[in-house]
Amino acid sequence: MAFLFNSDPVRAAVFRKVFARELPDVELFHSSECVDPEKVRYLLTWTAPDNIGRYRNLEVLFSLGAGVDQFKRESLPRQVKLVRMVEDGIIRMMQEYVVLGVLSLHRDMVAYREHQRCRTWRGLAAPQATERRVGFLGLGMLAQAAIERLLPFRFALAAWSRSSKEIEGVTCFHGADQLAGFLAQTDILVCLLPLTNETRGILDAELFSRLPAGARLLHVGRGPQLDQTALVQALDNGHLAAAMLDVTDPEPLPDDHPLWRHPKVAITPHIASVTQADSAAKSVVDNIRRHRAGEELIGLVDRTLGY
Ligand code: GLV
Repeated sequence: MAFLFNSDPVRAAVFRKVFARELPDVELFHSSECVDPEKVRYLLTWTAPDNIGRYRNLEVLFSLGAGVDQFKRESLPRQVKLVRMVEDGIIRMMQEYVVLGVLSLHRDMVAYREHQRCRTWRGLAAPQATERRVGFLGLGMLAQAAIERLLPFRFALAAWSRSSKEIEGVTCFHGADQLAGFLAQTDILVCLLPLTNETRGILDAELFSRLPAGARLLHVGRGPQLDQTALVQALDNGHLAAAMLDVTDPEPLPDDHPLWRHPKVAITPHIASVTQADSAAKSVVDNIRRHRAGEELIGLVDRTLGY
């Protein structure tokens, strides 16, 4: 039985070592190697290969990343389980990035960078963290992990999710009816939603208008969730004070896109969180063991919900 690793050879080498030690009966192949398609039971990849149907005995498709929006779910064979990457490296990096982003937006780092460019030495009035309301759009595993790291700063924390959730120390909102109430009390909005039909374009002019004046956006979801034109307008008319974007649409933005040079915008190239080979290999091994034992897989995607 074979595990096909369809990504870079460097991470494949790490997986190979971990598999040899932990799952010696599963042969690991890199996509550059020749493998009998009938032998492939497990596939790890960022996007589904065109010829996925030839892996007739495929049981589990592991996404290389935390997101699965890049797969055309309807074109995946029905019996194949689709699994998001849930591993410590991704979680830790997202915690770091969200803390970095929230603190940067809280302490006006985007504005100060622009001041520096103009050689301006001028302090901006900053509220205390206890007076700054940080709201998460999306309350999945990554958002919860990031919230845990933010707690010691004593921000006023809130979150909105599709279905009802309860997290200690966080004011939780849920469902379409409670979205406007959540937005009205959010000074720093952190988007950590998965990309689905419901969340595509969710960060639009209407949503921005419901945020208090001077609000800030930290976008670590997916590029297509953001109406970039609406963002530029909301920044230009002063309703939003700043945005930090780790995702855009497309990636990268075209050279002449106004977001590149916008004085109120900081952009990073989709690096908030990156799958770490060693911890990812351990989590995949653990999931294969669960699969074989007939247990629930960690990160199993609900194909109808899309996450
Ligand atoms: C990155 O965006 C991922 O899905 O892991």
